[in-house]
Parts: sequence; C-alpha cells; structure tokens
Amino acid sequence: MCGIVGYVGKQEAVPLLLDGLKRLEYRGYDSAGVAIIRNGQIAVQKSTGRLSALEDRLHRSPISGHPGIGHTRWATHGEPSEINAHPHLDGKKHIAVVHNGIIENYLELRQKLESTGSKFLSQTDTEVIPHLIAYELDHGAKNLLEAIRRALQQARGAYALGILSTDNPNAVYAARHGSPLIVGIGDEEFFIASDVPAILGRIQSVIYLEDGDIACLQPSGVSVIRPDGATVTRDAVPVTLNAEAAERAGFETFMLKEIHEQPRVLRNLLARHVSPDNRVSLRDFDLPLGDIQKLDRVLITSCGTAYHAGMYGKILLESLTGLAVETDLASEFRYRDAKLDPRTLIISVSQSGETADTLAAVRAAKKRGCKTLAICNAPGSTLTRESDAVFFTEAGPEIGVASTKAYTAQLMAFALLAIAVGRARGDISPSEELDLVRDLRAVPDAIVYVLDRKEHIKAIAGKHHDGPSSLYLGRKFNYPTALEGALKNKEISYQHAEGYAAGEMKHGPIALINEYLPVICICTKTADEVYEKMISNMKELQARHGRIIALATDDDANMRAIAEDIIYVPAARDCFSPIVNIVALQLLAYYAAHARGTDIDKPRNLAKSVTVE
Ligand code: F6R
Repeated sequence: MCGIVGYVGKQEAVPLLLDGLKRLEYRGYDSAGVAIIRNGQIAVQKSTGRLSALEDRLHRSPISGHPGIGHTRWATHGEPSEINAHPHLDGKKHIAVVHNGIIENYLELRQKLESTGSKFLSQTDTEVIPHLIAYELDHGAKNLLEAIRRALQQARGAYALGILSTDNPNAVYAARHGSPLIVGIGDEEFFIASDVPAILGRIQSVIYLEDGDIACLQPSGVSVIRPDGATVTRDAVPVTLNAEAAERAGFETFMLKEIHEQPRVLRNLLARHVSPDNRVSLRDFDLPLGDIQKLDRVLITSCGTAYHAGMYGKILLESLTGLAVETDLASEFRYRDAKLDPRTLIISVSQSGETADTLAAVRAAKKRGCKTLAICNAPGSTLTRESDAVFFTEAGPEIGVASTKAYTAQLMAFALLAIAVGRARGDISPSEELDLVRDLRAVPDAIVYVLDRKEHIKAIAGKHHDGPSSLYLGRKFNYPTALEGALKNKEISYQHAEGYAAGEMKHGPIALINEYLPVICICTKTADEVYEKMISNMKELQARHGRIIALATDDDANMRAIAEDIIYVPAARDCFSPIVNIVALQLLAYYAAHARGTDIDKPRNLAKSVTVE
C-alpha cells in the first residue's frame, strides 16, 4: 500500500524523504513523488516505477528546500502513471497532498468542485483533497488548518494525508482516518511517516495519531486538533527500535534475514511468557484468563498468512482446551451475519495491525458486544488500540513483504495462549503443561537445524522450481502449513501453488497428478493416526506417478520408498510441528524464487500492509 514520509526541519528535505520512502518500499508501490517548498513555492518531481527512477529524475532536475512530503503509490484509482502519482496539487499550485487510503465519495466531491471551476488532471480520488482545501480557503476558512478541517469533514473513506502549502511554508500538516500515520520527533526536526522504520535513526519519540486527528508540524513543535477544532495533547512514546533493526544484517534479502531470525524471536517469546519452572504465565496480558472460562466460543479472524496462523490456532485451542473455536477470513466475516454475543471471544491475528478487513471484522464484532483479543506484531497500531486485549508477537519489524517470522511468532502466541487457557480452565493438568512446555522449548533449536540444512533445501528447490505449478498437502495441524507453504511459494516465486488437505485429494485434485507436478507432502511423524493416513495419501500419489517431495521426520525410513526428494526436519510434538515445518517450506519457496530470479523482498503486486478493502 502507499507510503508517506514528510519532513520539517533545517536539512534538505529531498534526501531524507527518499531515504524514508526507500525504507517503506516493502509496502509495495508502482510510482513515487516528492514535493518541497522553496522560496515560497511548491516544487514537485514524480516518476513511475521504482524509487531509483525518481532518483534519476531528481538527479537530472534537482529540487531543493524544506519542508517536504514524499509518497510511494500503489495504484487503486487510475493506472500507475506520472499524472496519477502523488503529490497532487490544487489549481493554483499552492497546496500539495500525499494520500494513503481511499476517498470513497471522491466522484461526488469532484463533480461539485468541477462545477465551481476546479480543473482536475488525474484519475485519482486523492486529487479532490487539495482542490477541496483550496475551495475552503477561498470560501471563508480563516486559515489553512481550518480549511483542512472543513475539507476533511466532507471526505468519506479512509485516509492518511501529508499536506504542504505555501500558506504556511514552514509546516507540514498530517491527518489520519483509518489509515496508519505517525509523527516522529527528532532533534529540532519532525517527520510524518506511514510506519516507524521509515524514520528510525532520526527520531527519539513517536506520536501515534488517532482517527480524526489533524496535526500541524512546525519548527516550533507539533500541535493536534480534533475534527471539531478542539486542541488535544497526544503523548509522544519513546522509540525503542534502533535503525540497525531495519537493516539486512548481511543477508542478501530481508526475507532471508527474517527467516533466520525465527529461532531468536521464538526464544524471546518463550523467555517472556514461560517461567523458569516451565509454567506459562502470559506477561502483560490484559485479558483475565478467568474470563475465558465464561466463554461459549472463540472466533478467529484474519487475512492471508495470518489467517493460516488462525487456522492453526483453532486446531490447537480445540485440542488443548474445551472451547468451541471457528475461523473465518476477515474479508468474509465482516459481511456475514454471524450470530455473536458477549460470550464470544474474537481473536484477530495481524502482523501490521492495520489490515482494513481485519479491523472492520473486529469493529463489527465489538458492535455485537464481543470481547476482542488481538495477536499483533505492531505496537501502537490501530488494531492494538481498538482491541480489549493484545498479545504482542514481538517479532520486530518485518520488511520482506512475504511474512515469515511474524507467522511463526503468531503460531507461538497461539501455543502459549492455548496452554495458558487450557490450564486456567482445567482442561490440561499441571503435568501435561510441563510436558507441553518442554516440547515447545525444543522448537527454536529444531528450527536452527532446519536453517542449517538450507543448502539441501536449495538443491531441491533448484530441481523443481521451473514447472508451472506445485501442490502442497498436509493434514490436521499441518493442513494450515500446507496452505501457508503454497502461499509463500506463489507470493515470491510466482509459481502457481495450491495447498490442500491431503484427505481431499480423492475428491478432485488427484486428477492433476502426473509425472511432472511436484507435490510437497508434509508427513512428519505424529502420535495419532494422521501419519498413517498421510502415508496412504502419498501412496495414492505414487501409484499415479506423482513427483513427491516429502517433508519428513529425521530418519523416517518409510519415506525413501515413496518420495523422490526428502527434506528432513527434527522430531517435534505433533501440535508444535507446524512451527518447525513451515521454516523448511519458507526456505523452499525462497530458493525457488531465487532460482526464478524474482524480486523476493518486493514481489509484484503485493503490499506489506493492506490498508484498503
Ligand atoms: C503473506 C502476507 C499476507 C498477510 C495479510 C494480512 O506473506 O504477509 O498474506 O498475512 O495481508 O496482513 P496482516 O498480518 O498485516 O494483517
């Protein structure tokens, strides 16, 4: 989704804006632009394509000055083009605006403005905003802030805005409603940004703007007003992340770095939530576990990778607690007439905490009186602020667009939660808890073992990457692993990949099996009948000359007679094996993408934070 950076201070704005925009590249974009004020006039440069194209343009035709605003656009209204790239200006070129989100009533506003003489250049919804502000300035608004406030009262939809105007040439204005935007406070300089990593290293603290806030950043400080014009004080929160955290630390891509960070992330979560005597006690968790005893059911809602984490959470909660658990895609749930009441707990799962569908699903559930718990990686995000309770996954910033460490941290969060809830409800005994915790503690080391075998996984990926398609099969706890493995593959290697519950093969997909299609079968050993069933499914594929790649437990001799290639992983308890297994599939997808030469950290058409519906 679009990225915004703005700067107020004494330095040249353009290099700082470009630096910030580069760090937001992970959000996905197809054009970019900057605007600055120089000698009381607005200067703009834009370009389609990557930021390097904008840099080339700026090299040939430099603009300099301060303050400034910059933007990376991910097209929604109007094709990716220079005209449609932000910033957008009013007719007199006195106001420049960058925008993330969608102005839903832009057509209506545009018609009204055109009828009073405004001339529009682009196909975007955004362009109505500078025209509307200019209109309000010409029609009685006493100053720029008042004009912005009046303009935004007429806009419906979601927005994060950065605004520059010759009316107050030292300031940047920011407004937020439904799309993320923060204000960063540095040393005699101020920033706005879609996300903290964009400005890490230059700021000491951050103001998380609330929906409806309009902020004015000037060299003298930051002030914030509400839609009714009342001034509010927003506390600045110290920044604990350092700039190094957002760098690649020597790995060829952020995704590879993040894959390798998983053992550390999971160890940290265990250290935080498991006591030295191996009891799970959720620290800083503000949902009384006693309340969970009073629940009738749990509904888990999320999107994409986070949805797969939710599917795992459902199977795990059902197996370790007596709770009835359902899952639904947030984009479906929000329009469903689900029967909910205050005895339903809604668990939302989100890396960014800004996913529009997930937020809408949570809001819909809250309206119906449900308690809400968020499993989230982004402190200060909208989801964490709107939920009754939060489990922070604390995986650190995830820059690679395809989610890896945030996913395994979500699985670990569900594991810890399920043990804690199971104990609180008396569904598992103290000695079962000890066994579970012992096995959970083994997970990070098992992942290290998988990482150490990456060259072997790379060789397998190198052998199978060039076909048009692949199939991923799993059962029970590893059915979501199959879906997630397939999603990773298609996201970054662009190879069509499908995840299926292995038991469903006979009901249709087995027709696809031939001697060309690679089928990745997750068949790690389990304590129940699922392992045997999975072997039977694989035999059915073998009988049809399927090309089987098995993901199997170390030394499982059965596999050699069935699979063409085997990725061995260490033994893990059934219910925790998905946390280990997915790392092997992340690497498989990674090296397939590597072999296919794709842009791994920034796959085409994808955005890191999906802030529009
Ligand atoms: C895939 C991926 C997406 C996200 C989905 C939800 O690698 O990252 O499928 O999981 O867009 O995003 P969050 O977790 O930010 O709510």
